[in-house]
Amino acid sequence: MVNVVAFVGTARRDGLVSRICGRVLEGAADAGASTELINLYDHEIKPCIGCWSCYMSGTCVHEDEFEPLFHKLRDADAVVLGSPVYIGCMSGVMKNFFDRHNGLAVRNPPGAAEFNRLRPLDKLRTITREVLRFGPRYPGMRGKGYVLVTASTLMFPFTVLAGQTRLAVASLAALPRRLGGRVQASIVYTDSLARCLEGKEQRVMRRAFRVGQRITRRLPRRSISVPGETKVS
Ligand SMILES: Cc1cc2nc3c(=O)[nH]c(=O)nc-3n(C[C@H](O)[C@H](O)[C@H](O)COP(=O)(O)O)c2cc1C
Repeated sequence: MVNVVAFVGTARRDGLVSRICGRVLEGAADAGASTELINLYDHEIKPCIGCWSCYMSGTCVHEDEFEPLFHKLRDADAVVLGSPVYIGCMSGVMKNFFDRHNGLAVRNPPGAAEFNRLRPLDKLRTITREVLRFGPRYPGMRGKGYVLVTASTLMFPFTVLAGQTRLAVASLAALPRRLGGRVQASIVYTDSLARCLEGKEQRVMRRAFRVGQRITRRLPRRSISVPGETKVS
């Protein structure tokens, strides 16, 4: 059975982002997937301190609840990332969640520890080689499908003029891009305070349901190889 996991970065559990993400999962469940919605506010995720030890060791110095969440993202067949627009970008908890993926999810370049001691030409060679091979630590993460969900109070055409929702979606796409994933759909709800627009909300919820069904049906065959365990979907 395929597995779709939503990570939601808002404390408002009855807000639009939470409900749209929930609806995507309902669509996925309708198409036969097992689903899980994880609210990042329910978990202790300490901010990255930039020590880079995860790059070397593959584990984080923080002892908190991030790593099991990362394993859920790594092993999911498809992922939903939901955050409201906060000051023109994603919410802080979601960005914090993204930052913690740095060394755990991204490949550890061999020789990174010795990099500073290399001669300039060797540094250049190393960088060129690494840039070409840059990608996720777990090759099976490549091609994973992502759905991005956001909501803002700003209304059209100001959303376009201010570029806020575009920036929020682009920032949510940063993690899939870094991990070699594919953004299969973005669901953007603008003008969220105008709750009189009931028809609009129903339309968006219908679309969210269809997106959930579709992402489940169009999954590429992937295999996640983790030392000690193998998962084939
Ligand atoms: C801290 C904070 C910052 C916000 N910044 C913006 C913003 O820059 N642009 C905007 O259009 N809406 C902004 N909003 C409004 C939310 O994006 C909007 O209410 C959205 O619908 C919230 O999603 P929710 O319904 O899932 O809670 C902000 C809200 C908060 C609490």
